[in-house]
Amino acid sequence: MYCVKKITDDLTWIGANDRRLAMFEGVYSVPDGVSYNSYLLTDEKTVIFDTVDKAVRHRFMENLGHALKGRIPDYLVVQHMEPDHSASIVELASMYPGMQIVCNAKTLEFIGNFHNADFTARTVVVKEGDSLCTGRHTLYFYMAPMVHWPEVMVTYDSADKILFSADAFGAFGALNGALFADEVDYSKDYMDEARRYYTNIVGKYGTQTAALLKKASALDIKMICPLHGFVWRKNLSEFISKYALWSEYRPEENGVMIAYASVYGNTENAAEILSCRLRDRGIKTVMYDVSVSPASEIVSAAFKWSHLVFASTTYNAGIFITMEELLSDLTAHNIQNRTVAIIENGSWAATSGSLMREKLSKCKNINIIESQISLKSSLKASQLQEIDAMADALAGTFPKPAVPAAVSTGAAPAADMIDFTAMFKISYGLFVLTARDEGRDNGCIINTASQMTESPLLISVTVNKANLTGEMILKSGELALSVLSVSAPFSIFERFGFHSGRDVDKFDGAAFDVRTASGIRYLPEHTNCVIAAKVVQSHDFGSHTLFIAEVTQAVILSGEPSATYQYYFDHIKPKPQKPSVSDTKKGFICKICGFIYEGDTLPDDYICPLCKHGAKDFEAL
Ligand code: FEO
Repeated sequence: MYCVKKITDDLTWIGANDRRLAMFEGVYSVPDGVSYNSYLLTDEKTVIFDTVDKAVRHRFMENLGHALKGRIPDYLVVQHMEPDHSASIVELASMYPGMQIVCNAKTLEFIGNFHNADFTARTVVVKEGDSLCTGRHTLYFYMAPMVHWPEVMVTYDSADKILFSADAFGAFGALNGALFADEVDYSKDYMDEARRYYTNIVGKYGTQTAALLKKASALDIKMICPLHGFVWRKNLSEFISKYALWSEYRPEENGVMIAYASVYGNTENAAEILSCRLRDRGIKTVMYDVSVSPASEIVSAAFKWSHLVFASTTYNAGIFITMEELLSDLTAHNIQNRTVAIIENGSWAATSGSLMREKLSKCKNINIIESQISLKSSLKASQLQEIDAMADALAGTFPKPAVPAAVSTGAAPAADMIDFTAMFKISYGLFVLTARDEGRDNGCIINTASQMTESPLLISVTVNKANLTGEMILKSGELALSVLSVSAPFSIFERFGFHSGRDVDKFDGAAFDVRTASGIRYLPEHTNCVIAAKVVQSHDFGSHTLFIAEVTQAVILSGEPSATYQYYFDHIKPKPQKPSVSDTKKGFICKICGFIYEGDTLPDDYICPLCKHGAKDFEAL
């Protein structure tokens, strides 16, 4: 019986899950199974995106037959030729003689190699940026070589803003009835498998993945449909930011991954004591016995953590077998940008330390801590200080929290000291403040809203007087606060924060029109609640107006955590690109939005024309 899932009115998932596969690609264990995703677009023309592995071909054919509802497929888009996605090409081609294959030249060559078939006469060969109109939808094709094979391409549907991403953004794990990443607790239950999938399958090709991310960043993407794992329709930035880290070999977390190879437990003992010493210093650690844990898990962990320790006994005058394999695997996957420490063991001629160092020194930007611990069969009490020294050396490379001078010196701060950055230590939320006046909707970004009292239920909202929204609230006496959540993309801040409502309609092109009971528009996406309130007092404080308002309606919109001001800076706002050294411009850059003021001095009362922040939020170029 067919088992399909509807994605949009025009798009259906017609893939299948395999929970019996022991080893994916013959190498990677998949204890939670794997999904092979295929999609059917039903427009004026019908389009299949890739097929599935031969193990689930039967289910796929049933699904396709059902989803076609008596139509025939006009096109089969082949994005990737690895057989787990291309096993049914020949079968489909013979079942549907009128179906055309859409692929690039390299794929056509691979079809011939794998299937001993020549489909040239019925193939639409596409190149970078080519398009195919199917009716309401237009599909654009972008090449993504080496993510994961050289022929890989991705497809962008400009009508529904869907990226069919081939192997990118995939994950191990069967779908188990869900299809969308937001239907499961992805961070908790699937991110480790997504990382293991990326790092082991595509990890070697970080540069190529970064190139694909760059192409994708130019597209307005609302949904990602990969060939394995869940479809992403919410919080895309959460997953894309992981890919950005992984593709650049930047660690996700500060902490130490300790991998050890131990025959009789003595090397493990030294690794364990080091782990304790690191924990004593407040450093997170994880440990892997390389003879027990699958290498794919350890490769994945090495991509996650900032520091790596390798401890291995000497075996046949070399590195212990499983450790040697792990290090080969890690170097093959291009691991880089890590701090590393080494422990060796050898009962009569220890060589594993120098050999491990030699292997790792070939990796890019690996800082191997000079002092190495050498055990003779087992750790001796006299060597505990070496373990402490290694823990200190590792700890010394972790970023230190900044300590204010007044605290570190113990000196009393000056009575009149006002360090403006202290204001940034107050925790702020982020909100889209909206208003409606004389039939016009408008909104702006603020970080200055909080509850004042419970009975009556009052909130305070402070708005820069340069903002039209403040003026509208003064006139209408009503406001609405959409509380932004951590999935909020930067585009929301651009839409509501970087323009003036006097110049543009900030809701122009917005995909939603929902309103509070008081008739004010709010944001139903990337927010966790909306609060409507009626102004009971307003106070003019020069640059800003303070509104005190009584809550008239408060509705929870999602369970996502609120985005704080700090979270925005750490995770949402793109890092400001400072001009290159060769740029001779003098001026000041707005730390909030990146606007550059050109000039030798910045007036104290200067207001950023884009985001309306004051001179204090600028820094010299
Ligand atoms: Fe699932 Fe590279 O194929």
